[in-house]
Amino acid sequence: MNEIRRETRHEIRLRVNGVTYELRVPARRLLSDALRHDLGLTGTHVGCEHGVCGSCTILADGEPVRACLLLAVAATAHEITTVEGLAGPDGEPNAVQRAFAECHGLQCGFCTPGFLTTVTAGLRRDPCPTRDAAREMIAGNLCRCTGYQNIVRAVERAAELESAQEPAR
Ligand code: FES
Ligand code: FES
Repeated sequence: MNEIRRETRHEIRLRVNGVTYELRVPARRLLSDALRHDLGLTGTHVGCEHGVCGSCTILADGEPVRACLLLAVAATAHEITTVEGLAGPDGEPNAVQRAFAECHGLQCGFCTPGFLTTVTAGLRRDPCPTRDAAREMIAGNLCRCTGYQNIVRAVERAAELESAQEPAR
């Protein structure tokens, strides 16, 4: 009789939104699944699971990364920020979150966490984007609802809000 082999689990530490988590995961565990199922951080959404839609975008050391393309065991080397970590310590939404609400940049909201993380990182690189640059910034994220016009406006509005903040980031 063949012995059923148990899948090896690895003890890892993940730094997410400033908190260190210890968990045991198989080597094949995707970061997106570890965040949602092991840590309960369901703000990171999963659409295509193929790196196409951008719904699962998180920040790794401040850079936007597809959580569905990164293994949890490989994420231990990075400081991870999910959409839950974008707000300030007092829970105040960041400028991008406020701009999306103000400009109606969301409808069903499924894609929104990926846009918020992407744009938050994008405005750090380019704090004052032209309209073309704003479009380019979100080109890797798919939304089935909004037609993108309001999302582009939200990027521009977020840039305005951030430039008005003191001190500058
Ligand atoms: S779920 Fe990761 S890019 Fe679509
Ligand atoms: S708001 Fe519905 S998918 Fe973007």
